[in-house]
Amino acid sequence: MDHPRPVVGVVGAGQLARMCWQAAIGLDIDLRVLAARSDDAAATVLPNPRFGDPADPDALRRFAAACDVLTLDHELVDLATLRALEAEGCVVRPGADALRFAQDKAFQRTSFRTAGLPVPDFVVTDSLAAARAFAADHGWPVVCKRPRGGYDGRGVWIVHDAAELAAVWADIPEGDPVLVEQRVELEREVAVLIARRPGGEHTAAPLIETVQHDGMLRALVVPAPVPAAVAQRALGLATRIVELVGVVGICAIELFWTGGDLLINEIATRPHNSGHWTIDGAVTSQFVNHLRAVLDLPVGSMAATAPAVCSVNVVGGAGAPPPGAGLARALAVPDVAVHLYGKSARPGRKLGHVTAVADDVAAARRRAGEAASALAGEGAVTLAVDGGSGAPEVTAGTAHRRP
Ligand SMILES: Nc1ncnc2c1ncn2[C@@H]1O[C@H](COP(=O)(O)OP(=O)(O)O)[C@@H](O)[C@H]1O
Ligand SMILES: [Mg+2]
Repeated sequence: MDHPRPVVGVVGAGQLARMCWQAAIGLDIDLRVLAARSDDAAATVLPNPRFGDPADPDALRRFAAACDVLTLDHELVDLATLRALEAEGCVVRPGADALRFAQDKAFQRTSFRTAGLPVPDFVVTDSLAAARAFAADHGWPVVCKRPRGGYDGRGVWIVHDAAELAAVWADIPEGDPVLVEQRVELEREVAVLIARRPGGEHTAAPLIETVQHDGMLRALVVPAPVPAAVAQRALGLATRIVELVGVVGICAIELFWTGGDLLINEIATRPHNSGHWTIDGAVTSQFVNHLRAVLDLPVGSMAATAPAVCSVNVVGGAGAPPPGAGLARALAVPDVAVHLYGKSARPGRKLGHVTAVADDVAAARRRAGEAASALAGEGAVTLAVDGGSGAPEVTAGTAHRRP
């Protein structure tokens, strides 16, 4: 008798769903997406995308009815509907209880602190006076975050004085809570990537350095250049978090390394930009492992397959050509893999990424920086290629272009 192909439904059709589809082909999984628009990155390549608003309970219910497992490429779904679907017997992975952490930074932060996990000092408040008092206690600057709906630094403000704080407050609807936190002096930002099955079996990738620019993740370096004991501590914290949250699938845990302390910033309960290097630089990619985990199949090692791996995002710039225009030049760089998401170029939009593998971090950074610059065009912001052992640096300009 034929073994039925498992049907995995992905809510959302961005680049994460698109890369999940590539992974689904190899496993012969029937992957479907619920797309908001016909030009969504996955909707343009999947044979039969479904369309609907993920915030619309009816659309979500109709989509879920045809799937064995429902999973997500973003957090903007209605939690009450997901809970109702779960109660009706629909398999949602990660489940609504886990997703709540990713949807709401205030809930997440408060839960982690209550569990005794190290987080930056913070207060959740809708009161400007309380935010000012927090800043008076902790010193300026402080960081204000909207608990819901932010990404790539949107909904995050570094606030330097009382006037800036008042300006942020003026833009926030009355009564909406704000997460106000101490600005941490960062030496590096790092991330742990874990794939976890429903029964708790899990596997973690080596510690990843995540390099941000203007609040947006721009580059990744593996292994993260921190002492082994720090990497071990990060893994221990991340393991406690996935158990606490009860994640099924991929979970990315973002951490701040101050040179002395390791603090948890936030988590994502889905494939994440910090794991893009695993497609070309690890034994098992995060997209393959996400599908394996949500289907309760054995998860694979995410160990690196080269001594050094570096990925750089291709981000749209003002007046830049579409990334395809630089494809031949990017592909001329040795040991680089190119991933384009098929999205139209807009400033600040993630259009693709490149991954370079090498024998040392400096070479991986240089190659990934060159290839990403070729794709992003003039004025690109890319990873500095000098050194590779010093503090991470992301620069604007075209210094890394091939002659
Ligand atoms: N408390 C903080 N101290 C220092 N930098 C911060 C702090 N919070 C956020 N940042 C910076 O802003 C980036 C984006 O913040 P984050 O809360 O992760 O929002 P997003 O949801 O956009 O990823 C972080 O990766 C970090 O570079
Ligand atoms: Mg973040």
